[in-house]
Amino acid sequence: MEDDRGVIVENMSSWDDPENSNCMSVEKKEKGAFYEDAAQYWSRIPATVDGMLGGYGFISKVDIQGSNLFLKRLFRLKVPPGNARALDCGAGIGRITEHFLLNHFQKVDLVEQNPAFVNQARTSLESHKNMGNFYCAGLQDFTPEPATYDVIWCQWVLGHLKDDDLIAFLHGCILGLKDNGIIVIKENTTTSGKLDEDPTDSSVTRPLEVLNTLIQQAGLRIAKQKRQENFPRGLYPVYMIATRPSMERSAYMKNVDSTITLPTETRIADEGDLPHNEWSANSLSECD
Ligand SMILES: C[S@@+](CC[C@H](N)C(=O)[O-])C[C@H]1O[C@@H](n2cnc3c(N)ncnc32)[C@H](O)[C@@H]1O
Repeated sequence: MEDDRGVIVENMSSWDDPENSNCMSVEKKEKGAFYEDAAQYWSRIPATVDGMLGGYGFISKVDIQGSNLFLKRLFRLKVPPGNARALDCGAGIGRITEHFLLNHFQKVDLVEQNPAFVNQARTSLESHKNMGNFYCAGLQDFTPEPATYDVIWCQWVLGHLKDDDLIAFLHGCILGLKDNGIIVIKENTTTSGKLDEDPTDSSVTRPLEVLNTLIQQAGLRIAKQKRQENFPRGLYPVYMIATRPSMERSAYMKNVDSTITLPTETRIADEGDLPHNEWSANSLSECD
């Protein structure tokens, strides 16, 4: 059976097997099982680009091109982020760090939960002069160093976090940003308006509106949003969402242990580097 990404989903009968933890709704899974099942899944995946992209290694180049264009636009904002230091979250073997972030930042750190992937990243990147720290941790347990990063890049990983952990993680990322810093979220989204659960890798794919609401609940506002172009048909739509803290840093420090709940209405106040219409004409339109 083919899923939304065109990926063959094997063994769908596991849904019917009460002995198999995968049969439980991913969303309702207890946290422990949710994270352990994902870790188990990734421990069986080869430490290759194809492994990182579910057999779609061939889209890596287009993905990186889209990210390059997006980041260049962020650097052209009226209040651009700096280029001193970036953090790659859920980095896998360091595909994004190697082919993208290291070309733009003087120092790049990465965080990834699978030790084998971190080791592979170390082997290929440790000698790079701009490479910084390799953290091996789940994002649900990870808090970036305070006031350290110009850009925090989270790609194809946030579906592995429960909503409350995602909000807490983003909250930690806000404190990890330097002045003018930006958190970029690049994720699959559903078009059905519903959550898609993947029992195979223990993840969820969220509708764009849900992702945007969680982003706002974390205390972030959306500065730019663009759909990745030129991916093959049949894949989930992928959006790049650049977010900034919606309050002064001092306000977050006071709220450090509590979730910041903002209005749930999704507002995309595109920051101007281009006339608004020019940007939005190609930013939110469907391309397939
Ligand atoms: C689809 S791969 C994407 C890897 C990388 N972002 C890329 O685009 O090449 C998902 C990655 O997220 C990692 N991951 C899964 N759950 C995670 C978690 N809770 N915390 C951190 N990383 C996680 C997996 O081990 C895997 O390396």
